[in-house]
Amino acid sequence: MDIVDHRVSFGDFRLRYEETISQLCLITRLNESVARLDDLPGLCFGIVSAIIEFTPAENCSIMLREPQTGSLNLVVAKGRSDEGSFFGAGEMSTTVLGRGEGAAGWAAQHAELLSIDDCDLDDRFIHLSSAVKEVNSVICAPIVAAGSVIGVINCSHPRKSRFSEADKRNVALVADHAAVLLQKALVVDRIKNECVTLKKRLEEQVGCITATEESVTELREQLYISEKFATLGELLAGVAHELNNRVAPILIYSQMLQQQMCDEKEEKRLRVIEESAVGAKAILETLLHYSRPGEQEREPVNLNQTLQNTLTLIEYKMRNQGIELSLDLCPQLPPANVTEQQMVQVFLNIINNAVAAMENTGGTLKIKSTFDRGNIKVIISDTGPGIPGEISEKIFEPFFTTKESGKGTGLGLSISKRFVEDHKGRIYLDTAAGSGATFVVEVPRNGIRKENSEKHGPFEMRSHDAARILVVDDDSTIRDVIRDVLGSGYEIEFATDGHDATTKIATALFDLLMVDYHMPGLDGRQLYEWVSSNHPSLRQRTIFSTGDIYHEEIRNFIESTGCRFLIKPFSTADLRQMVSSTLSA
Ligand SMILES: Nc1ncnc2c1ncn2[C@@H]1O[C@H](COP(=O)(O)OP(=O)(O)OP(=O)(O)O)[C@@H](O)[C@H]1O
Ligand SMILES: [Mg+2]
Repeated sequence: MDIVDHRVSFGDFRLRYEETISQLCLITRLNESVARLDDLPGLCFGIVSAIIEFTPAENCSIMLREPQTGSLNLVVAKGRSDEGSFFGAGEMSTTVLGRGEGAAGWAAQHAELLSIDDCDLDDRFIHLSSAVKEVNSVICAPIVAAGSVIGVINCSHPRKSRFSEADKRNVALVADHAAVLLQKALVVDRIKNECVTLKKRLEEQVGCITATEESVTELREQLYISEKFATLGELLAGVAHELNNRVAPILIYSQMLQQQMCDEKEEKRLRVIEESAVGAKAILETLLHYSRPGEQEREPVNLNQTLQNTLTLIEYKMRNQGIELSLDLCPQLPPANVTEQQMVQVFLNIINNAVAAMENTGGTLKIKSTFDRGNIKVIISDTGPGIPGEISEKIFEPFFTTKESGKGTGLGLSISKRFVEDHKGRIYLDTAAGSGATFVVEVPRNGIRKENSEKHGPFEMRSHDAARILVVDDDSTIRDVIRDVLGSGYEIEFATDGHDATTKIATALFDLLMVDYHMPGLDGRQLYEWVSSNHPSLRQRTIFSTGDIYHEEIRNFIESTGCRFLIKPFSTADLRQMVSSTLSA
């Protein structure tokens, strides 16, 4: 009996010894997977491979539990003879078990190892439609970390009752070890995912910063441009104002002298003087009109007229450099819907470039206007050296210039491009046009025709011999000119500024006031306000004279008074007509 007992316990001991050795080998094998903590599917693969190696399981898989829903998702599945299948995050396997579903679901829900010897007889096992292999016995071991089930290890065999108690203990042992490893790997995995999200967010932020930097650069550039134009505008307005007063006497005296007795030669010379003064007047008007920033409204504009106006600013330079002008302006050109001031800038930039390109050689500047159903097209070409391919790609970039320092800022075409694109149009270099450079500007048409702002009816001269006129102007030459033009027909008094005028109006009666807008001390506006309160009968008997009618504030003020105005430099006819019509109103 003793001997038998001794033999039984020895056999038992041998079995236990072999099992322990096997478990030690299994754990050693599992520990090799520690290096794969940063690779969750790789770690799972190591675990299922170890189970297949150390147990009779034909197939082994690991399902991880979704913390929110409690469902089990297949991460890795491997058969004894296959390479295994991996299902990474976002690449879900079709095998998902709802909470408590199937044998694995049962093991997870009860946190208990489940072993089934005959799957046909146990309701807890469900045959998945996706499973191709036959399964008759299974072990499902929950993976429990820090008191919570984080997954399940599933082992299966096609034969019934294939797993021994030792196999179950081995799988349970692996599940215990896997819990520690998987918990760590899940943390690493979560950190990795967070890093990817953070990186993405950071890239988005960097993208935002880059976009902000670009818009800051653009704003700075716009500021530079508007400052440049504003300063230029102020400068031009001042210069034009002074020049107006100088041109007025030339125009008026040349007209008056022509009416006096003079020989043919003298008359011809006087006509040249008059024509030059008229030309200068046109240039000054254009300068004043276009140098004013701030008037940005779109309106129907005849671009032929805009081109003509632009040319007045540059014709002198062209003539000086032996550049011929060839105009082919479509007489039926419909109006374009544009801010005219900006279109002048665009045309001026292109023409200036063309003139610069033909500076030393002379040549021909060709301007053509045409239209189609949607757009007005202006084509400006020169016979200069043209623009080489490698440069042509950069010419619309801000600050790109091939001109020597001090001769070009490189902003001309980039500003033009911005203006034209603001109009939903386009500007481009027509490279197929042949030698020289050809620029095309396209802007949308407008259906409404621009009203002619100058509505002069037939002029009727009336006599107002008895009329007393007070001329208020700080410029003595202008006072002389007015006296010479109107002197014989009217009784004229002069005031040298606004204060002088108030004294004279307070002491004598006048039928008409002619007031210069720009005066030191009390200016034209303040004088008019004083007149309105103290001598309202003169309110509609006031004529303003100014060269700066394109200044928005001045124009708005004069329009609000309903008074007439004379634009300096005026001609003798303008002056006489204005005085007469105001007196008869
Ligand atoms: N008609 C042309 N013929 C030859 N080159 C041209 C012509 N028009 C433009 N370019 C080239 O394009 C460049 C950029 O022109 P853009 O008008 O933008 O600046 P810029 O004329 O150099 O300087 P800015 O207009 O500010 O005085 C010029 O420097 C020149 O190299
Ligand atoms: Mg330029």
